[in-house]
Amino acid sequence: MRGSAAEAAGGLARDAAAGLTAKPKRLPAKYLYDALGSQLFEAICELPWYPITRAERALLARERDAILARLDTPATLIELGGGNGEKPAILVEGLAAQRRAATVHLIDISETALERARSAAARYPSVIVRGHRGTYAAGLRAAAAELDPQRSAMALFLGSNIGNLDAHESRRFLAEIAGALRPGDSLLLGADLVKPERDLLLAYDDPLGVTAAFNRNLLVRLNRELAADFAVERFRHRVVWNAAASRVESYLVSQAEQTVRLAAAGGCSIRFAEGEAIWTESSYKYKPEEVAALAESAGFTLSAQWIEADAAFALTLFDAP
Ligand SMILES: C[S@@+](CC[C@H](N)C(=O)[O-])C[C@H]1O[C@@H](n2cnc3c(N)ncnc32)[C@H](O)[C@@H]1O
Repeated sequence: MRGSAAEAAGGLARDAAAGLTAKPKRLPAKYLYDALGSQLFEAICELPWYPITRAERALLARERDAILARLDTPATLIELGGGNGEKPAILVEGLAAQRRAATVHLIDISETALERARSAAARYPSVIVRGHRGTYAAGLRAAAAELDPQRSAMALFLGSNIGNLDAHESRRFLAEIAGALRPGDSLLLGADLVKPERDLLLAYDDPLGVTAAFNRNLLVRLNRELAADFAVERFRHRVVWNAAASRVESYLVSQAEQTVRLAAAGGCSIRFAEGEAIWTESSYKYKPEEVAALAESAGFTLSAQWIEADAAFALTLFDAP
C-alpha cells in the first residue's frame, strides 16, 4: 500500500490554508473521505433519494457479459476511487464463475475505503489484489507501472466520481488515464445524468440528514487533523443546483460572524461573515452525448453506452487510444 500519513496531513494543511483564504472559500472534495466520511458515504448509497449506486450496480449486473468479453484472461482491472469495492466485485464474481483469474488494482485516497475494497476483492481466491492509497493520479501511475505488457487492462471510473471534477480537471484527468493505458485497453466510465432539480437536491440534501453529516464531517476532520476550532453546529449544509454549469454545489454556510483558528495549518485565522459559505463539493451532471464527447476529447473511442433510464445514469465503455 502506498502513500504516507505525514504527506497526506501536509497536503490537507496546505489546501485548507489556501482554500479558506480564497474567495469564495473552498475545500477540495477529496477531503470528505476520512474514515467516518467513507462510512457516511456508504450510508448515503443506501438512501432512497441517492439512486446512483443502485443504478450503476444494476447496469453492471445487466451488462456484465459484454464487459467481461472485453477483458483478457487473466483480466486486469484498475478501479479509481472505488469506495467499498462492491462494483468491481460484480465483475470479479463473473470472472470467477468463468474460472478466469484477475488482478485488481484498487486506488483510493481513503484508507477505510481501500481496506473495504481489498476485503471485497480478496473473497475470490483467483484474484490478486493490489492496493494503492493516494490520489487518482498517483494511484494510476503506480498501477500503470505494474501492468503486464502482454495483457490488456480496463480502468473503472465509476459512481460518477468524474462529476467531482470540473470541465478542465476532468479533461486533464481523462487524458492522464489515456496516457496510462495502451492500445487494446479500455475505460468504463459511470456518470450521473441531468434529471429534475427536485431529485438532484434530494440526492444531496436528504431528509434524514446523512448527506449533511457527510459534508459537516469535513469540519470535524479539520478540528482533529489541523487542530482547528470549528464550532460544527454553527455551519449549515446547503446545496444548490447551478443549471448554467450543470452541477449540484454543496456548501457549509456560517450561521454567524465568527473566526476559526487552524493551529496546525500555520496558525492561520479564518474570518467568516454571517451567511458566508465554504464550497466543499461540485457534482456535475451530464447528457449522455456529453459523456462520450468528454472522453473522446481525451482520445478515447466510444464502444458502448448503457443507460438506466429511471435513475438517469450512464455507464459508457471506451477503447483506449
Ligand atoms: C463518491 S465515492 C464513490 C465510490 C465508488 N466509486 C462508488 O461508485 O460507490 C468516491 C470515492 O473516491 C475516493 N476519492 C475521492 N477523491 C479522490 C481522489 N482525488 N483521489 C483518490 N480517491 C478519491 C473516495 O475516498 C471514495 O472512496
